[in-house]
Amino acid sequence: MIRHLLSGADLDAATATLILDTAAEMATVAGREVKKLPALRGRTVVNLFYEDSTRTRISFEAAAKRLSADVINFSAKGSSVTKGESLKDTALTLQAMGADAVVVRHPASGAPHRLADWVDGSVVNAGDGTHEHPTQALLDAYTMRARLGRLAGLHVAVVGDVLHSRVARSNVLLLSTLGAKVTLVGPPTLIPVDIAQALAPGIDVSYDLDAVLPNVDVVMMLRVQRERMTDSYFPSAREYARRYGLDAPRMRRLPEHAIVMHPGPMNRGMEITPEVADSPRSTIVEQVANGVSVRMAVLYLLLGGNNL
Ligand code: NCD
Repeated sequence: MIRHLLSGADLDAATATLILDTAAEMATVAGREVKKLPALRGRTVVNLFYEDSTRTRISFEAAAKRLSADVINFSAKGSSVTKGESLKDTALTLQAMGADAVVVRHPASGAPHRLADWVDGSVVNAGDGTHEHPTQALLDAYTMRARLGRLAGLHVAVVGDVLHSRVARSNVLLLSTLGAKVTLVGPPTLIPVDIAQALAPGIDVSYDLDAVLPNVDVVMMLRVQRERMTDSYFPSAREYARRYGLDAPRMRRLPEHAIVMHPGPMNRGMEITPEVADSPRSTIVEQVANGVSVRMAVLYLLLGGNNL
């Protein structure tokens, strides 16, 4: 088993499949009255969040607690980080406390990789800047497999603000490893030149959402990340929604069996309409639920847990 999970590229097909299969076993715990396993009793998991998060932080906390680990939640607000303490000094503090795993979210791309050099425990990247978010890709893959029965041969459209999306990058890497075909769709300003070739071979790019929709099994909508935008990438929110937003008429272009995904948080009315987000094709709530099982599997396997 790998020691850290920093990138979608850390996972070969066998390891990724082991995580998904273990997550399926973990999911049975969620259905029980007592939602707890003793597997990580006595181990310490630190959630180190330097950037806002709702789903991911709660999900990792629930996952660690369901495995009986001790959980320490650290958020940059209210810590010595606001006094200018460096990531390295924070890492040394965690090290001194004996953290077995550090789950880190950070606005700087690459921060989890640096942290992995400074601590003895396992580091899990919970989102670094615009770079990667591998557990999101795993929970997305888990959701696709649960709904559609397989990953190999699926055609997945990843739509919208690819430029700022760590979710897109990790998904492209993992889905390619697992044999799915990915098409990136969005305005040319939000799809970095050469991204397709840089990430994995066989990735397509399209600027025409309507043309792509009839040919996909999965459409994954991305949030337009205004907080990371330093420039004007499209004329207006209305114009963006008109060309790249998923509304009900557009959703009808999808094949009957196709599903609609979104990692959250959504800009309802921008990249996705409420009607689509709340439709039976949407897996958005399932993705959140599956996230806990997938993160349980990741923590369990990285920490070499026992007593499953
Ligand atoms: C994403 C993130 O933070 O990278 N959300 C998530 O983890 N569920 C996507 C986003 O912020 O748009």
